[in-house]
Amino acid sequence: MSRTVYVNGNYLPEENATVSIFDRGFLFADGVYEVTAVLDGKLVDYAGHTTRLERSLGELKMEMPISQEELLEVHRELIKRNNLNEGAIYLQITRGAADRDFVFPKDAEQTIVLFTQAKPLSAPKTGIRIISAPDIRWGRRDIKTVQLLAPSMTKMIAKAEGKDDAWMVQDGFVTEGTSSNAYIVTKDGKIVTRNLSNSILHGITRAAVLKLATELDMEIEERPFTIEEAQQAAEAFATAATAFVNPIIEIDNVELSGGTPGPVVTRLSKIYLEESRKAAM
Ligand code: PDD
Repeated sequence: MSRTVYVNGNYLPEENATVSIFDRGFLFADGVYEVTAVLDGKLVDYAGHTTRLERSLGELKMEMPISQEELLEVHRELIKRNNLNEGAIYLQITRGAADRDFVFPKDAEQTIVLFTQAKPLSAPKTGIRIISAPDIRWGRRDIKTVQLLAPSMTKMIAKAEGKDDAWMVQDGFVTEGTSSNAYIVTKDGKIVTRNLSNSILHGITRAAVLKLATELDMEIEERPFTIEEAQQAAEAFATAATAFVNPIIEIDNVELSGGTPGPVVTRLSKIYLEESRKAAM
């Protein structure tokens, strides 16, 4: 069934939605995006996503093309028109269409597109198997740009090896997953995840999960870790808006927590889901 999508102020059937061949998102990956999960037809961690969106736009000297009130209204309208109960809403904003030039255009009208994707998010998770791979991305991974070829290629390396995903490694330390933040749980129960910097995306699910973990009196260490440390950890997991808290049960062919999700990740996953349902708007 055709979805209704939003393009520059209009709600359209997806087959009729178009953007210019001169759009800078197409020519230069000159755009940013956000992904917000939907549970029970409501938005999860919405405030975090819009705050990060404003930051990404600001870092690239772009404006917010519509007001926050309108943006929320568009999200809600797309949920309604597509009868979306569980899944995600993707929001893409580019610098717009202009004759091809490396210099940013002065008066291009920005392009804004939103679309929905139905997917099961709350089903119990059995855990994924990952490999490590070099992090070949650019130096501003804190900006959520639509430049996703490097993570896409990296994910394909994992798929070619029959695995689900990859954790990317730079200078010997894990940065993050191809589209998720990375964590381990040490044998004495500490949650370790890389500290925020330009090397990783500042995950909105990461912020929510670390807040919950703090409230549960779990110990957290924000620091880089190696693949070897991860292979010796008690548990490992990833977080993202489209995967919530996702257990990792194998890293480079080394099985973790007996090949099933361990107790810490199981608890965090359950609590994150419960709290997200309560707080969704
Ligand atoms: N990706 N790191 C990277 C590189 C990501 O692409 C993502 C999310 C995350 C997790 O961020 P958040 O918790 O805010 O979703 C971390 C989205 C889901 C995607 O590209 O589909």
